[in-house]
Amino acid sequence: MSTITIKNVTKAFGDVVVLKEFDQVFQDKEFITLLGPSGCGKTTMLRMIAGFEKPTSGEISIDGKVVSSEKTFVPPERRDIGMVFQSYAVWPHMTVFDNVAYPLKIKKLDKATIKQKVEWILDAVHLSQYANRMPNQLSGGQQQRVALGRALVAEPKLLLLDEPLSNLDAKLRESMRFEIKEIQKNFGITVVYVTHDQTEAMAMSDRVIVINRGIIQQVGSPLEIYRHPANQFVADFVGKINFIKGQVKDGRVELTGLGQSLAYDGPLTGQVVVAIRPENIRLSLEKGELHGKIHSMFYLGDVNDCRIDINGEQVRVIADSHSYDALYGNEDVFLQVREFLVYEDDGSDDHTKIVT
Ligand SMILES: Nc1ncnc2c1ncn2[C@@H]1O[C@H](COP(=O)(O)OP(=O)(O)O)[C@@H](O)[C@H]1O
Ligand SMILES: [Mg+2]
Repeated sequence: MSTITIKNVTKAFGDVVVLKEFDQVFQDKEFITLLGPSGCGKTTMLRMIAGFEKPTSGEISIDGKVVSSEKTFVPPERRDIGMVFQSYAVWPHMTVFDNVAYPLKIKKLDKATIKQKVEWILDAVHLSQYANRMPNQLSGGQQQRVALGRALVAEPKLLLLDEPLSNLDAKLRESMRFEIKEIQKNFGITVVYVTHDQTEAMAMSDRVIVINRGIIQQVGSPLEIYRHPANQFVADFVGKINFIKGQVKDGRVELTGLGQSLAYDGPLTGQVVVAIRPENIRLSLEKGELHGKIHSMFYLGDVNDCRIDINGEQVRVIADSHSYDALYGNEDVFLQVREFLVYEDDGSDDHTKIVT
């Protein structure tokens, strides 16, 4: 069992508050991802769970036992946690087997038990045939799996992963996502995963915690944060989005600047920002709520990434790749908007740009 309760945790370095009133419960066997831009406080949160940093105020418990509070502090080595960092440090002078065996040797387990456990873990991370190799004879992905194996061999109930895939190339990153998820399921462990990569967060997590400047913006399943982002920051950070200023009037939202409008029966009134994901617009030569001219198209193999000029403004549309054969630059097109979101205009220009 490994439940983590984070109660109203604030962390400051000197005068600078880097995490503010973080309040969350992570359930046993849950895969939780902390997602946000660089510097938003993700690593600091992970280090506090591990016991490498103390909260300035608030309390952290693991399985109901307080590990950090004003009165209590349990050191990292007594928290029964496995960790893998971005710069996975495998010992260069030890074989794969000895790297993975290391935590068990520290625990002074007998030789036969160590051999049995290491072989079991090497099998789980698909490294059995590399047991006798040195790290410099391995690829980046294999080294990363050694680090993962070493974190898992002591059978922690809780695994903390800090951007563990960021040093790998794109293809390997994608396959490692599945492997980590498989290991988490097979071992039945709780994982807290840190990344700034939204696709990674979407692919693996049960729940994602989106953070900006030390403040939680939204907590939800990948589907919830993608389809129903709580605010403009989340809509912008998770996925691609067009933001267009608008004005609600008589059951429609006028898209200021575009000179066109969409039917709208939601609760907001007055000045708003309309957010449309580029893949939620379908291009048509016959009909659609909006119309414009094709400004550019980029054939990317799996999709056709288009910019549509509407009254001098550009809207990004991710269309079916086959549409590339049927459409031409400068052609008049209709835009069928399948789904859009409407936010109160927060007045900041940070997230009211068209096309990202
Ligand atoms: N030991 C430290 N002393 C002072 N500032 C720190 C320290 N560790 C982190 N910070 C600051 O805290 C903020 C959050 O850092 P971090 O948790 O590493 O962000 P992330 O992992 O989301 O990129 C950053 O502004 C960083 O500079
Ligand atoms: Mg970090």
